[in-house]
Amino acid sequence: MFDHSVRPFFSKNCYGCHNPKLKSGSLNLELYRDPASLAQDRDTWERVLRKIRWTKCRPRDRPRPNQADVKAVTDWIESEFERVDRLAKPDPGHVTARRLNRAEYNNTVRDLLGVDVHPRTVFRKTIPAMASTISETCCRFHLC
Ligand code: HEC
Repeated sequence: MFDHSVRPFFSKNCYGCHNPKLKSGSLNLELYRDPASLAQDRDTWERVLRKIRWTKCRPRDRPRPNQADVKAVTDWIESEFERVDRLAKPDPGHVTARRLNRAEYNNTVRDLLGVDVHPRTVFRKTIPAMASTISETCCRFHLC
């Protein structure tokens, strides 16, 4: 899947600027050559996912990437995140019952809404480690 759809998508739409020479936005996407890189540098991939989903980052003189391609790539990235999360061992010292205080909650919502317009997806998929705490809070506000 990565070599078949993801790499060609980046090659067609992204490597033109995010390459070792130009490094637009200090990002060289050519470094991310295999699925393992996703687990190693999740922050970057979260940003990449955001960019692709909002198709903000593209040359003005080029057409939007094909929507079917966009979907294939974003679906793949999300499923990789889920797979990596499932493999991640739970931290035995983690306290799940803690409530977020008001400031933390506000920050979290702002961060999350800044990340994705679908809080439900973000809560469930992006940060499952925190989900048990957050979902409780967010449901009181009818976000889910
Ligand atoms: C025409 C050149 C160009 C192309 C093509 C391009 N980008 Fe960018 N990208 C930039 C520039 C310039 C920046 C830095 C300014 C900014 O953040 O908008 C940037 C920044 C970024 C960032 C970091 C910004 C952030 O939000 O943290 C990401 C991630 C990114 N691009 C992803 C992509 C992806 C994925 C593609 C292909 C779908 C792509 N870009 C295609 C020029 C480009």
